[in-house]
Parts: sequence; C-alpha cells; structure tokens
Amino acid sequence: MSEIAGRLSVQEAAAHLGKHNGGMGVLLGGATGVPGAHVVIIGGGVVGENACKIALGLGAKVAILDRSETRLQQLTDKYSDRINCVISTAASLKKYALDADLLVGAVLVPGEAAAKLISAELVKKMKPGSVIADVAIDQGGCCENSRATTHKDPTFIVDGVIHYCVANIPGAVPKTASEALKNATLPYIRELASKGVHNALAENKHLLNGLNIYKGMLTRPEVAADLGLEFTEAEEAIKAIAG
Ligand SMILES: NC(=O)c1ccc[n+]([C@@H]2O[C@H](COP(=O)([O-])OP(=O)(O)OC[C@H]3O[C@@H](n4cnc5c(N)ncnc54)[C@H](O)[C@@H]3O)[C@@H](O)[C@H]2O)c1
Repeated sequence: MSEIAGRLSVQEAAAHLGKHNGGMGVLLGGATGVPGAHVVIIGGGVVGENACKIALGLGAKVAILDRSETRLQQLTDKYSDRINCVISTAASLKKYALDADLLVGAVLVPGEAAAKLISAELVKKMKPGSVIADVAIDQGGCCENSRATTHKDPTFIVDGVIHYCVANIPGAVPKTASEALKNATLPYIRELASKGVHNALAENKHLLNGLNIYKGMLTRPEVAADLGLEFTEAEEAIKAIAG
C-alpha cells in the first residue's frame, strides 16, 4: 500500500499544482527551457522512494530528506546524481520546505505518531500555491496543519498552501490495490491455511514479526508501551500456548 500511496500522492498533488485547482500553476516536468518543479520528499522509505520514482519520471527535480544515513546511502547508490539525498535536521527541513513546489510527507517511526516536522509557522513562509501531500496522515501527519481528508474532498488550504491529506490513498485505485495486496499476502494466507496458525507462526519468522495479539497476549512493544498494557514477546506467546 505504501508503494501505491507514494506513487499516487505525486500524481494527485501534481494536478493540484494546476492553477485551475488553486495551485501555483506549474507543470511538474517543466517544458523545454523551463525547469521542472522542485519536489521535496521527507522520509525516504517505501512511500518516499515510490513518490520519487514518479516525480523523476515526470521530470521534476527531487530531494529526499531522511534521518537514516544508511537509507540515504541506499538511495544515493540507486539513483546517484538524479536526486539530492539530504540528512533530515531542523535546518535542512526548513531550507528544503521553503524551496518546495511539492512537499511529500512520508515519515514513519514504527508504533509512534508521526513527528510534526513541518510547523504551521514554516508553512506561512512556503511558496504560495505550493502543495503539501502529507501521506503520513494515517499516523497523524508530519505537518502541524494536517487533518485527515477523503478522496471526495481531498484538500484544504492554509496560508496559501494546498494540503492534500487523504488517509487512505490506495482506496482511489481499488483494482490495483487489491491485486497488489493479494500478491503480497497470498503466500502467507496459504501457509496459515495449510499449517494452521500456531505452526505457521512458529516456522515463519516473517509471519511472527507481523503478530500483534495472540490469545489475549499483546506482542507489540510500542503498542503495549503506548497503552500501558503488559507486553509478551511473540516467541514467548506462541510457546506459552504450545506448552
Ligand atoms: N495515506 C495513506 O494512504 C498511506 C498509505 C501507506 C502508507 N502511509 C504512511 O506513509 C508513511 C510512510 O510509510 P512507509 O511505508 O514509507 O514507511 P518506511 O518505514 O518505509 O519509511 C519511513 C521513513 O521515514 C524516515 N524517517 C523517520 N523519521 C524521520 C524524520 N524525522 N525525518 C526524516 N525521515 C524520517 C525513516 O528513516 C524511513 O526511511 C507512514 O506514516 C505510513 O503509515 C499512508
């Protein structure tokens, strides 16, 4: 779903850069002799990389900010000088946000609400008619102004900046999304069906990594910490039941 959300966020946001949609009136890919738009992506994970692919494909100038040096190294190795990879700090976020025609919020800290990296004050100084696509909205969003929207009414404007904050972006493309979800999940479903839940979890660490709750035991440390509930390691949970 992150692949789809990353790709579609740029496609949708590009349309909102159009003057008729309230945007600044620039084409993401520019034209002969006219440079493409500046796309700034915060968070270079699955959403961020897929947003980058589409933005590059459309001819935009792309910068990705991430707090992980390892991730930036991977992106640099893959896209070399086609993109600008920048370590995410308060200073770099500010500098790049002010330069952005389109800013994509794609951060994730697993188990936590997204950090509010783009303040309302900073938005006031961004280019009028620029677009923020806060894909991380399903985790609360990484911009202070963000609130969840739907495909029927996807945007709102604060201080001249268009905010696109659809919480279920893949919902717009259910055919593609269902096919992709089927491809990703079917092997696990087959394993659960043929081995049974307990044996499948015991034999496949990837399935075990996805375990949230097992027979009343909470197996995600972040959720347990957030809710003040008792946490049990996934391995222990399945052993306890087996025993
Ligand atoms: N709206 C939607 O429909 C939709 C769909 C899919 C995913 N999402 C959301 O998109 C977000 C990104 O998902 P993903 O699958 O790409 O996650 P991911 O784990 O693949 O990538 C997240 C990246 O954010 C980086 N990051 C964390 N804190 C940062 C910071 N302070 N500054 C810069 N980078 C930072 C991490 O290093 C990581 O590379 C999540 O919040 C996810 O829930 C939304």
